[in-house]
Amino acid sequence: MSLIHTWACFLLWVSLATQDKTPDVAVTCFVSKECVLPCSFTPGSKETVEWFRQDVVVYKYERDNDDDDDDDDDDDDDDSSEEHYRHEQIAGRASIFPHLISRGNATLILRGSGLKDRGTYRCHVSTSKGEHNAKVIVKVEAPIQGLSLELTRLSGYEEMKCTVRNVFPAPRVTWATEPPTFEDLRPITRMLADKQGLYTVDSRLKRLNGQPDLIYICKVTTSYGGPTWTTSLREREIRGTQGKDLTIPCYAPPYLNDPFLHWSFSNGEDLSHILTFDSRSGHSVFSPPWNNHVELDGFRVPFGDGSLRLMDPKHSEHTGSYSCVFSVPYNTHTERTDVTIDGPVGERSTSEAPSYWWIVGLVIAALVLVMAGMLAYLKMRGSTSKARNDPEEVTELHLVKDSAADRNLNESSCLTTGGTNGQSGTQLT
Ligand SMILES: *[C@@H]1O[C@H](CO)[C@@H](O)[C@H](O)[C@H]1NC(C)=O
Repeated sequence: MSLIHTWACFLLWVSLATQDKTPDVAVTCFVSKECVLPCSFTPGSKETVEWFRQDVVVYKYERDNDDDDDDDDDDDDDDSSEEHYRHEQIAGRASIFPHLISRGNATLILRGSGLKDRGTYRCHVSTSKGEHNAKVIVKVEAPIQGLSLELTRLSGYEEMKCTVRNVFPAPRVTWATEPPTFEDLRPITRMLADKQGLYTVDSRLKRLNGQPDLIYICKVTTSYGGPTWTTSLREREIRGTQGKDLTIPCYAPPYLNDPFLHWSFSNGEDLSHILTFDSRSGHSVFSPPWNNHVELDGFRVPFGDGSLRLMDPKHSEHTGSYSCVFSVPYNTHTERTDVTIDGPVGERSTSEAPSYWWIVGLVIAALVLVMAGMLAYLKMRGSTSKARNDPEEVTELHLVKDSAADRNLNESSCLTTGGTNGQSGTQLT
C-alpha cells in the first residue's frame, strides 16, 4: 500500500520535473498601455495554448489537428481555430499572434492595461512534443507624468502646493529648501485614490516667515523605484522705472545641469511666450513682440543664470508676472517675479488723482453737512430768540463760521500731512 503510494508520488514528481519548467518572469506594465506577457516554448505540432490568470482561462488557442504535416508551414491560419474564453476583466483586450505559435512564441498581448490586471498569469502550452508551463507576474504601474507647484493664499496663509496626479503605486512627497533651512518643515499631504485606484496627491507647506528668497523644492518618488521627480519654486516682487533697463533675476538650483530655459509673461489675462533657450545646443528663440525688449546672456544659462534684461520697459506693457522655468528630465525649477514698472511722474499723478479727489469730495461733503447742521441749529435758536439783530448772536455766528473755517483748514492740513507720505501729497503742495 505504502509502496504503491511512494511509487505514485515518484511518478508524479518525474512527470512534473520533466515538464519544460521555466523560471517565473516579472513584467511591469503601464496603465492604459499595451502589456506583453512572454511565453516561449519548444515548437511542436498540435499546439494548444492556454493563458490563465489565477486559474481562470483568459485566452485559449487550439490548432485543428487533422493531419500532421502542418507543423512546418507557418501561414496556416485557415486550418487553425482561435477560441476566446471571456474573462470578465480581460474580455476582448487579450490576443496572441497565431502565426508565431508554430515558432514557439505564445506571447500574450493585453491592450489598455489597468491596475485590475495585476497578478500572476500562467501560460500553458501542450504540443506533440510535451507540455510547457510558465508563470508571469504582472505589475501595473502609473508612472509620474509631471508635478506642479504653486503658491496659494486660499487658506489665508501663503502656502506652497505641490500636486501630482494619476500615479500608482502611492507616491511619496518630501520637501526641501534651497539654501537648506534648519526650520522643521511640516507639510500637510493628502492622498486620494480614484475609481481605477490611481492616486492624486497634494502636499502643502506653509511659506516660512522672514525668508522671502527661499527656493521650495517638492520631491516625489514612487515605491516601484524609477526616477525622483522634483519641482521647485521661488517667488519675488521687484519694481522698475519706465524707460530704465531692468534685470529680472532667475537662477537655477545647483542640481540642474544644462537646463532648457523658458521665459513667459502674464499680465493677469494672457500668457505670452518671451523666449526659449536650449543650453545644450545654445539655440534660442525669441517671440516677436518681445525680441526688441529683452536680452539674455546665453553664455550664463549653462551656469544656472537665466536672468532676463528688460530694455526700455513701459508701465502699461511690461507690468505683470514673469515666469522663468528651467527644466531637465524629471526636474523643473520656476522663478515667478511680479514686476511693477512705475510710470513717469506725469503719468503717475493722473493715475493717482482719482483717489485724491475722492478724499477731498468726502471732506467737502462732511463740511457741508456740519455747516447745514449748524445753520439749522442757529435758525431754531434764532426763531426762539426775540431780538434778530442781537450783537451777541452775530458774534456767535461769526465764531461758528470761524471755527468751521478753522476745521476746514485743519482737515486740509491733515490731508497734506497725511498725503506727504504718499506721492499724492507732493502733488498737492
Ligand atoms: C514573441 O512575439 C512577440 C510579439 O511579436 C515579440 O515581442 C517577442 O519578442 C517574441 N518572443 C520571442 C522569444 O521571440
